[in-house]
Amino acid sequence: MDNGLSRRNFDQLARYIYDYSGIKMPPAKRTMLEGRLRRRLRATGIVDLDDYCDYLFKHGGIDREAIHLIDAVTTNKTDFFREPKHFEHLERSALPELMAAGHNRLRIWSAACSVGAEPYTIAMVLEDYREARGAPDYSILATDLSTDVLKAARKGIYPVGMIDPVDHQKRIRYVMEPRDPQRGEVRIHPKLRAKIGFGRLNLMDRAYEIGDKVHIVFCRNVLIYFDKPTQEKVLARLCDKLVTGGFLYVGHSETISGLNLPVKQVANTVFRKV
Ligand SMILES: C[S@@+](CC[C@H](N)C(=O)[O-])C[C@H]1O[C@@H](n2cnc3c(N)ncnc32)[C@H](O)[C@@H]1O
Repeated sequence: MDNGLSRRNFDQLARYIYDYSGIKMPPAKRTMLEGRLRRRLRATGIVDLDDYCDYLFKHGGIDREAIHLIDAVTTNKTDFFREPKHFEHLERSALPELMAAGHNRLRIWSAACSVGAEPYTIAMVLEDYREARGAPDYSILATDLSTDVLKAARKGIYPVGMIDPVDHQKRIRYVMEPRDPQRGEVRIHPKLRAKIGFGRLNLMDRAYEIGDKVHIVFCRNVLIYFDKPTQEKVLARLCDKLVTGGFLYVGHSETISGLNLPVKQVANTVFRKV
């Protein structure tokens, strides 16, 4: 039976996780971290958390284990139509304003997409909008640090209860009922999946290699895990990737006031690049 992490090992892990992912790991999160890492004990066959740390940091295991360690420590809670005011804003303000400014082919980035509910929600809104008006054409880039969530996002299969926030009309159009109802799973329609490119991107990277600039960025419910200086750097790099007049959505509990960024606020937790 393992007795948890020694203080020294906790500090070393916390430093590693912070440097790699930007995620703060204060002492209050020690029990949570221990719980999450016990999953890695089962997977590696190591019996004790301190032995696991020796494996990582004394015997060179960190290179092989880094991806799994980071997968284990990220928090991936998400929902379809989470913070629904953002999607109302997208439909009623951002899309009409971008179209009025002559942008008929939109690139949209979900920059911490978790298991995909956020980019699929964006795709549902865009698809409805385009069908009603004949434009714009669009593509969505969906990135995350965790390889586990990206795997699930690419599949686009969800427990049926997770689809509850999707309204009836959208559900008929974009969600495929299960062939085997016993499994209780639904699948997102391939026409939406085809609109989204998934990839791994660490928001700690010095430059975001995503190709052309984007018109809209969703970076929601990830900044809370970062300290202020890290938030400022991440947001500055995201703004660099936005066209002038492009929109940035952050989570409802995330505040960017006091940060030096080239944006003005246009709605609650919605910003526009100036
Ligand atoms: C709580 S989820 C938010 C998902 C979605 N944006 C939403 O609001 O529902 C946070 C996501 O951020 C990802 N994440 C954490 N650190 C990251 C980093 N340094 N780079 C990219 N993604 C990161 C996690 O893997 C996780 O999937």
